[in-house]
Amino acid sequence: MGVNLSGRNFLKLLDFTPEEINYLLDLAADFKRMKRAGVPHRYLEGKNVVLLFEKTSTRTRCAFEVAGMDLGMGVTYLDPGSSQMGKKESIEDTARVLGRMYDGIEYRGYGQELVEELAAKAGVPVWNGLTTEFHPTQALADVLTMREEFGDMHGRKVTYFGHGDGNTSDSTMVVCAQLGIDFCLCGPLDDVPGNLFFKPELLEQCRVIAAEHGSTITITDDIAEATENASVLYTDVWIGMSTPREIWPQRIPLFEPYRITREVMAQARPDAIFMHCLPSFHDTETTIGQEVAEQYGITEMEVSDEVFEGPQSRVFQEAENRMHTIKAVMYATLK
Ligand code: CP
Repeated sequence: MGVNLSGRNFLKLLDFTPEEINYLLDLAADFKRMKRAGVPHRYLEGKNVVLLFEKTSTRTRCAFEVAGMDLGMGVTYLDPGSSQMGKKESIEDTARVLGRMYDGIEYRGYGQELVEELAAKAGVPVWNGLTTEFHPTQALADVLTMREEFGDMHGRKVTYFGHGDGNTSDSTMVVCAQLGIDFCLCGPLDDVPGNLFFKPELLEQCRVIAAEHGSTITITDDIAEATENASVLYTDVWIGMSTPREIWPQRIPLFEPYRITREVMAQARPDAIFMHCLPSFHDTETTIGQEVAEQYGITEMEVSDEVFEGPQSRVFQEAENRMHTIKAVMYATLK
C-alpha cells in the first residue's frame, strides 16, 4: 500500500517510518524540480495555514511562507509581539481558536510537550518548526541535500561536530538511525558545565533503530576517528538561541578544539561535504560574532570562514532545501 500522510502531524521524525521519510524526500525533490522549471503547483488553493513563532527565525519562517504561497494557500504569521499568544492567551487556547480557522498550524517555540499538546488540541495538522528537543524539518532538508550529493545515503557516515542534546544534533541522529546512515558525534566528553549530552533514553532508542537498519552510532572526542571515511561533516553554533550568556565562558573554550577547519575537512573522504543548519558564526559580521571576537579573541567559532565559503560547503543549498521539504510536509499532510 502506498504512503498516505493526509491528516498527520509532523512533530518529530521518530513518529515516521523510513518509508514515510523517503516518501517526503521524493516529494520534496519533485517540488524542487517543478519550482526550478517554473511549473505551477498551487495544489492547495483555498486552504490557509498559520505560523506561530515564539522564537526568531529567518529560514523556517520564510520556508513555510514561500512553500505555502507556492501551494496556493493563504499564510498568516503570528509572533508574541503581534498576537495574544503567550501573554494573554495560552498556546493551547490559541491552538483551539486557530484550529477552527486554519487548515494547518506551524509552531516554533520551547518544549516538545507544547507542540505535542498543540497538536492534540488543534484538530488540524500541526508542524514542528523547532522545539528545544527536535528540529525535524531541518533534518529532512539535510537528508535531501545529502541525497542530492551522494544518492542513497545508506551505509555512509555523517559526523556532527558539537554537543548532543541540541535540537539539530538530536534530529540528525534520529534521521540517520532511521535511514541506516552511520552517525558520529564528535565533541568534548567532559562532564563539565557548558557541555551537553544526548538524553540516554533517546540515544538508546536511536541505537536500537540504527541496529535494525544496519548502521551505527559513535560518540567520540577523537577528531581522527570522527572524520575517518565521513561523507558529511556537520556542525551548529556553540551558543544558540537559548544558551544563557553565563555559559559562554565555559562553552566557547570547551568547543574550540572542535571547529571544522580545512585541516579537519581534509581528514574526511575526498568527496566529503560541509553542512550547517545556519545561522553560523564563521566571521565577525554579526553583533554576537563581534562580541565573541572582542571577549575571547576568536574571529570564527564552529567553522572556519575558509570551509564555510569553500568548495565543499553546501550550506546555502541546504537552506534552500528547507523550503522544498517543508512544502512536501505541508502538501502530504493537507492534501
Ligand atoms: N536553521 C534554522 O532553523 O534557521 P532559522 O532559525 O533562521 O529558522
